[in-house]
Amino acid sequence: MAELLKVENIEVFYGEFQALYGVSFHVDEGEIVALLGANGAGKTTTLKTISGLLRPRSGRILYEGRDITHTPPHKRVEAGIAHVPEGRGIFPWLTVMENLKAAAYVKRARERFEETLEFVFSLFPILKERRDQQAGTLSGGEQQMLAIARALILRPRLLMLDEPSLGLAPKLAYNVIMLTKQLRDEGYTILLVEQNVRLSLKVADRAYVLETGRIVKEGSSAELERDPMIRAAYLGM
Ligand SMILES: Nc1ncnc2c1ncn2[C@@H]1O[C@H](COP(=O)(O)OP(=O)(O)OP(=O)(O)O)[C@@H](O)[C@H]1O
Ligand SMILES: [Mg+2]
Repeated sequence: MAELLKVENIEVFYGEFQALYGVSFHVDEGEIVALLGANGAGKTTTLKTISGLLRPRSGRILYEGRDITHTPPHKRVEAGIAHVPEGRGIFPWLTVMENLKAAAYVKRARERFEETLEFVFSLFPILKERRDQQAGTLSGGEQQMLAIARALILRPRLLMLDEPSLGLAPKLAYNVIMLTKQLRDEGYTILLVEQNVRLSLKVADRAYVLETGRIVKEGSSAELERDPMIRAAYLGM
């Protein structure tokens, strides 16, 4: 499989505080890769660096084989990198439809908007039903669907999800994580950031574990599920 994303040895700081220490990993086309770790491990920082909201002090980010370390965020979106942020990033006062239209600000999304919209509505029929409803009045699960739908409107090649299960009841959390598998089967490549290790390992092909800014484990989901350290620290066994 072709390598879609390669993160090489990135070091990221907030002022004097170092959040990432030599983080390296890769995502191949068609994979779900999970980036796992506890609160404050550096998961969000990693995604923000890939989408260009943060600049690494050193290291490189390669996408489709090109160095994008210094490419501005909107150009990365145009190149097909979509980021569903922590906390969803939808506009609560706008309707579902307005939220989707607002997402289509790049050429990549505008070109085949109607067709993409149809696909997104087939994936989330509830959003079609509620298209004229204010986004802030949707349930938590529906808001998460809308956040993902906004990213899909961009026709991404790489879909990055930051804790999509956060704040959802267990059944909905399960559904959202299972949705990533459905998207993978549709041909999407997904980088999934989660604290919910058990659930993530059910859908991911491979995973990396971050601890205080460093990758401390990597492997296939099956390998990590068997790993004694992972079982003790993250699976409560
Ligand atoms: N804007 C900021 N300014 C200073 N420090 C920050 C900032 N954002 C994050 N940090 C720190 O960087 C480290 C990594 O944070 P990050 O948000 O990437 O973690 P995370 O793995 O996403 O955690 P969570 O599961 O809580 O979302 C933490 O120690 C955090 O306190
Ligand atoms: Mg986070």
